[in-house]
Amino acid sequence: MLEEELDPLLEAAVRALSEATDVAAVEAVRVRYLGRRGELTERFAVLQDPTLSAQEKARLGKKFNAIKQSLEKSLSERKAALSPQGISGGSVADLTLPGHPPEVGRLHPITQTIERILAIFRSLGFAVVLGPEVETEYHNFDALNIPANHPSRENFDTFYLESERETDVLLRSHTSPVQIRFMKRHRPPFQIVVPGRVFRPDATDATHSFQFHQVEGLAVGPGVTFGDLKGVLAAWAKGMFGSSARLRFRPHHFPFTEPSAEGDLSCIFCGAKGCRVCGQKGWLEILGCGMVHPEVFKAVDYLPGTVGFAFGMGVERIAMLLHGIEDIRLFFENDIRFLRQFP
Ligand code: DAH
Repeated sequence: MLEEELDPLLEAAVRALSEATDVAAVEAVRVRYLGRRGELTERFAVLQDPTLSAQEKARLGKKFNAIKQSLEKSLSERKAALSPQGISGGSVADLTLPGHPPEVGRLHPITQTIERILAIFRSLGFAVVLGPEVETEYHNFDALNIPANHPSRENFDTFYLESERETDVLLRSHTSPVQIRFMKRHRPPFQIVVPGRVFRPDATDATHSFQFHQVEGLAVGPGVTFGDLKGVLAAWAKGMFGSSARLRFRPHHFPFTEPSAEGDLSCIFCGAKGCRVCGQKGWLEILGCGMVHPEVFKAVDYLPGTVGFAFGMGVERIAMLLHGIEDIRLFFENDIRFLRQFP
C-alpha cells in the first residue's frame, strides 16, 4: 500500500460524491470506499502488518482515521442535502407521508344517556342539580323516612366508609338524598332533576355493578298531583324511546313516597307483545316514583300540606335498553372497542 494513494483516493471519493444526484448514489460511494471491501477500507488493512513498528502504526492509524472521518462527514452532508426535506442535525422527515390524525374524544355512553335524559326534562322546565357522592346516614336514609331497621341500611346493601357503622358516613346508595339537600336550601315551587353515581355492594354480574347511575326527579308546588307525575314521565318516555313508548304504573312501596309506584316501559323490542328481553311480559321496569311522603317534607321544615312528586331511574338499565347492551360491566371496563361504538 502506498501511503500516497490515500489522498488521491479521498479526492476521488469526494468528487464522486459531488456528482451523486440522489441518496442511493451517495450510498454507492460509501460502499465503494468505506464498505467492508471498500477501496479505503482495504488499504487500512495494512495496520495489521506485523512488520510495522509501533510508531509507524500510530502515525498511519491517525492518518487513516482523519481520512475516514473526513469522508464520513462529506457522505452525511451530501446525504442530508439530497434527502427530501433534509432537516439540519441530520434527522430526516418525509413531509409527504400522511400525518397522524388527532384522536377525537367522545362522551361515555352513560354520559350520553344522562345528557339525553336531562335534555328532555330541561325542555319540560326542570333544572339540573347535583349532590355529593359521599353522604351521611341522615341524608341518605333518616330524612327520607327510611327507618333504622330498613334492610337497605345493612352493611351488605350500603358502603359505609368506616367499618361496623361507627361513623354515619357512606357512599350514597341512591340520588334521593339530594332531594333533602336541595329542599333544605330552597322553597317551592321548583322542579329539579339530579343525575349522579350511586354505590351498592352488589356482587358484579351482567346486570349488577357496585356502582351505577341514577337520575332523580323532584317537583314541589301548590296543586302538584300524581297526574302531573304521570304526564311528565309519559312525555319523557316518548322523548326518550319514541312516540309509541307507553308507561304503566304499578303500586309499590318506597318509604319516601306515598302513594308509591313503579313505572314500566312498554317493551321497545317487541312493542309490548312479549319477548326475551321483557321476559314475555311486554313491560320493562325502569323507574320508581310517587308523591313525596309528608315525613320527608317535615324533615326539611316545609309547611304541612305541601305536595310534590318524586321519581328515580337507573341510567345503565336505560342505556342497555336503548342500545341493546346485555352486560352492564361493559360500561365500566374501559374497553375502547366498546366505547368507540358510541360516537
Ligand atoms: N331511590 C330509589 C332507589 O334507589 C328510587 C326512587 C323511587 C326514587 C321512588 C324516588 C322515588 O324519588 O320517588 O331505588
